[in-house]
Amino acid sequence: PPLQRIVNVEDMEEVAKKILPYRSMAYYSSAGDDSITHVENGRAFGRFFFHPRVMKPVSQCDTSTTILGYKSTIPVYISGAALARLGHPLGEVNLTRGAHKTGLIQMVSTNSSLSYAEISAARVSPDQPLFFQLYKHVSDVIAEKRIREIEGLGYKAIFLTVDALVPGNRELDIRAPHYLEDFENQGLPAQRKPDGDQGETDRLGTAGGLVIKNDADMTWEKTIPWIRRITKLPIVIKGIQCVQDAVLACEAGCEGIVLSNHGGRQLEYSLPPIELLYKIRQQRPDVFEKTEVYIDGGIRRGTDVVKALCLGARAVGLGRAFLYAQSAYGETGVVHVVRILEREIRFGMQSLGVRRISELVPQMVERVDWQPV
Ligand code: FNR
Repeated sequence: PPLQRIVNVEDMEEVAKKILPYRSMAYYSSAGDDSITHVENGRAFGRFFFHPRVMKPVSQCDTSTTILGYKSTIPVYISGAALARLGHPLGEVNLTRGAHKTGLIQMVSTNSSLSYAEISAARVSPDQPLFFQLYKHVSDVIAEKRIREIEGLGYKAIFLTVDALVPGNRELDIRAPHYLEDFENQGLPAQRKPDGDQGETDRLGTAGGLVIKNDADMTWEKTIPWIRRITKLPIVIKGIQCVQDAVLACEAGCEGIVLSNHGGRQLEYSLPPIELLYKIRQQRPDVFEKTEVYIDGGIRRGTDVVKALCLGARAVGLGRAFLYAQSAYGETGVVHVVRILEREIRFGMQSLGVRRISELVPQMVERVDWQPV
């Protein structure tokens, strides 16, 4: 369908479902076990309602913010998700160009389907910031090389993913014949070849083959200082799932945390990030003063973004929505999704009576104990 018919983020998923090969859709859409957490990530936003203030001047409304000091036109970033070329031949480059056109920041996955250098080179201007999502390799030598490589290429921050040390049970993906051996023929860079042997990738699906060599023995005491010794880049911990770990990340001096359960692709019954954000707000509001807090998972509407910001998030990440958009329409689809979100966020802010992101405060949302149908 023509892009004007795509009026919200869900629509983009519908189109992607129609055009993507079964196996790509299986990999992109799959989630852990019975998809309870995946579905709840989105549904949980339905338990938060607004207290809008009226009679406030809102004709001038600025949706822009900074993330780790880098400008973003809306409080949203493109979360690092693997293998964009499963959906479109240009893959991650669609995201890079779309991010440039709209003034967003792209986080590049360790398991991107183009090399980190190719993605960096696809930037339209050299001052376009890119963040890097790091899976720490079990070998310190390989991990160190990877960190030095991306720092040398000009990536601006490391998002260390800590919630996918071992492969999640994504049955849709496991059932679908996995993709990685095909990918070799399509010129997937050597470092993105599956680490596991054929038997392992058959058992674990596409995703499993990608995480097999992740370091499953990381600790706060050992791993964060180790990364600090190698790089000056800010470190953000991606995959915080309880209040205690948010506090520990602050104590470890991390510049940011992402409350995330990997889009429901890892541990089933991990709490929806908006609920965890609410808990941290109630139990440890000091966390928001010590580090930047982001959330991802299930964000599909401007109101979702605005709710997260009211509760103290600095920005939010979207994974699948951008993968679907670039699959269906390439770079233009990415730009379109950002425009939709921008319009919805602006409307939400204006309707709450605010003109600036910094005016979004916890008093503007209320958690109810019932779920809308
Ligand atoms: C991901 N995600 C992810 N995260 C990460 O740290 N490294 C990765 O390589 C990937 N790969 C990946 C692939 C696919 C297909 C998906 C859908 C997701 C997780 C991603 O960064 C983010 O946490 C979630 O996608 C957020 O949930 P939504 O927006 O997809 O609901």
